[in-house]
Amino acid sequence: MRTNELKQILTEMTLSEKVGQLVQLTPDFFLAGGEITGPMQEWQMSKEQLFQIGSVLGTHTSEQVMQIQETYLEKSRLKIPLVFMADVIHGYESIYPIPLALASTFSPEIVEEVAQLSAKEATQAGVHVTFSPMGDHVMDARWGRVLESNGEDPTLSAALTRGYVRGYQGGNLSTEKNRLAACVKHFVGYGAAQGGRDYNTVDLSHVNLYQNYLPAFQAAIEEGVELVMTSFNTMDGIPVTGNKEMVQKILRGDLNFEGVVISDWAAVVELIAHRIAKDKKEAASLAFSAGIDMDMMSDSYQTHLAEIVLDTNQQVALDNAVFRILTLKNKLGLFEDPYRGLRELDDNQLAATKKQLAESILTISEKTPVLLKNDNQILPLKVGQKVALIGPKASSQDILGAWSWIGESEKAISLASGLQEKSLELSVLPMEDGQVITDEAINQALILAKENEVVILAIGETSEESGEAASLAQISLSRNQDKLVQAVAQVNPNVAVVLFNGRPLDLSNIVEEVPTILEVWFPGSQGGRSIANLLMGEVNPEGKLPMSFPRSVGQLPLSYLSLSTGRPMHEGNKDQKYISRYMDEGNDALFPFGHGLSYSQFECVDQGISHQAFREDETIEIRLAVKNNSQIAGGTTVQLYIEDLVTKVARPVKELKQWQKVYLEAFEEKEICFTISAEDLFYVHHDLSRSVETGEFNLYIGLSSQDESIKHQVAYTM
Ligand code: NOJ
Repeated sequence: MRTNELKQILTEMTLSEKVGQLVQLTPDFFLAGGEITGPMQEWQMSKEQLFQIGSVLGTHTSEQVMQIQETYLEKSRLKIPLVFMADVIHGYESIYPIPLALASTFSPEIVEEVAQLSAKEATQAGVHVTFSPMGDHVMDARWGRVLESNGEDPTLSAALTRGYVRGYQGGNLSTEKNRLAACVKHFVGYGAAQGGRDYNTVDLSHVNLYQNYLPAFQAAIEEGVELVMTSFNTMDGIPVTGNKEMVQKILRGDLNFEGVVISDWAAVVELIAHRIAKDKKEAASLAFSAGIDMDMMSDSYQTHLAEIVLDTNQQVALDNAVFRILTLKNKLGLFEDPYRGLRELDDNQLAATKKQLAESILTISEKTPVLLKNDNQILPLKVGQKVALIGPKASSQDILGAWSWIGESEKAISLASGLQEKSLELSVLPMEDGQVITDEAINQALILAKENEVVILAIGETSEESGEAASLAQISLSRNQDKLVQAVAQVNPNVAVVLFNGRPLDLSNIVEEVPTILEVWFPGSQGGRSIANLLMGEVNPEGKLPMSFPRSVGQLPLSYLSLSTGRPMHEGNKDQKYISRYMDEGNDALFPFGHGLSYSQFECVDQGISHQAFREDETIEIRLAVKNNSQIAGGTTVQLYIEDLVTKVARPVKELKQWQKVYLEAFEEKEICFTISAEDLFYVHHDLSRSVETGEFNLYIGLSSQDESIKHQVAYTM
């Protein structure tokens, strides 16, 4: 439809129809076929109002979507199709590893594939828009939603966020009906919830906001993301859903976002609980003037917006908001085909998509695990070896993780099933997932551990323990799982722990006890198969941590991006008193950002730098050889960090700027090159502008944020 035709629709709309477009409800409002029962009754909604709403969130099947759309189009006066949105976060029915696991690949191309294929499956079930990607900057593993994030580094997160948007949206939503419009969330600061407690207060400096929290959103917007969701939290004391400065000035102004702004679930009415609004009318008024186009699951706009618009003369703002929603529907091609291809789908296409997804999920879930530790080369297992598989995650199918609401965990492949297909002498001692491990179960484990050459301990979290509303004050292994590890390690030193979880855990209780730890996160539908392939060495681990593992929960929030402070701790002063340190714990991570081992032995060898100094329009090249000093082929991620020695505002000691994935055959060596330009040195100043001054910089290249195998000092001059 052309713009003038869309504008024409707008002129035909009544005030109430315009407000309706800004309302999003769940499918249950339609379940009684529009009879006024249940939620409609509760909200005192009329039938007329129901058939004016703009959007539905959280449908499950294409039949449901077709039925709701059909009834709606039949009953609504203007027949503007509904737009259907849902949380397609790491797959729809076929589930990929969680986003934090996907971030361990450091690969925008991989997340692009995930997004593209998730979109394919979700659109076949009638979804038009996904509430993904989550671009929230995170530093606190107590916050359960780190599971949905890209980790603690803003540069990596921005690159991955771009990958998601590209994969979901493709090039043209109206012709590519197997693509979804993406909604980047949660704008902004949600990951900084105090104490890691979900929905809690946030208080951030603007320098921090611009440097660390905005880049992923900016990347999504540059990539053409269609929607932005505002967050639940406060910024500068005002919840973002009612915060004009955040939405109008920063999102619309500085970031130049022109698409639809949607609130988070009930966030408009929650302005009352924040004690920013005295009632629903005031809540609606604050949210609307802040710039929220669509009210997700509250009746504030529905009931009060028409009156507010009339009283305050905001007709133009209303028209603009409605027009943005009509534009989204138009881009999705809904005016031409409100069913967006659903009617033409056949069973063969659906089956082909499922098959394609299963293959892609298997390959990608082989790339997401991170080998944290592998002393004594316990892994890979050897063919024919006598192996005991023990623990709550041994046979568990609870391996999809949060946000797999349509995912079928009963079809997920458990680790036991994966390992049973391998040539091993395997004994399995499953334990009830999510239950406290009893002394009796530990005794059984000890008997089995003594009888076997190697013990795989499969432990971690249940899906309920990370994700939204899953904050934890303690992030150590719970339910006696640490006791199990300690006891087993006493009777058999050849223990490999396989960890299933959605957040960095505090592993200090077990890290010294066992030689090997493989972090597999929540690996998704094909988890057991991919992990078995990794344990057998048919595939080599290559994941790198996108988020640091702390030594203690007391260190949180923790990130490798810490600032120097006026009293930095180093080897020489670590026992002195008036130093920025803990008396009872180190400052550093147990496993730092960027860390991740391989069965191969990699080495970075410096091959020299092109210049020691450069100007604005010049670049510097650093060449290095990446060597595989082992007979096992494998892949790794080579990382380049910078340290700006003197700055106008305090900067992190190290910042990731570039990375390259390198795959090497046995004893192979490849030369790679990093090219550094002034752009890599830019940072946010006190006035929020981005620039860099002349001066000295250290460049570090290695295989983790703490690896300084290659170091150069360079000067940036005018
Ligand atoms: C609340 C969550 O914060 C958000 O991420 C999600 O997209 C919405 N609910 C919709 O389910």
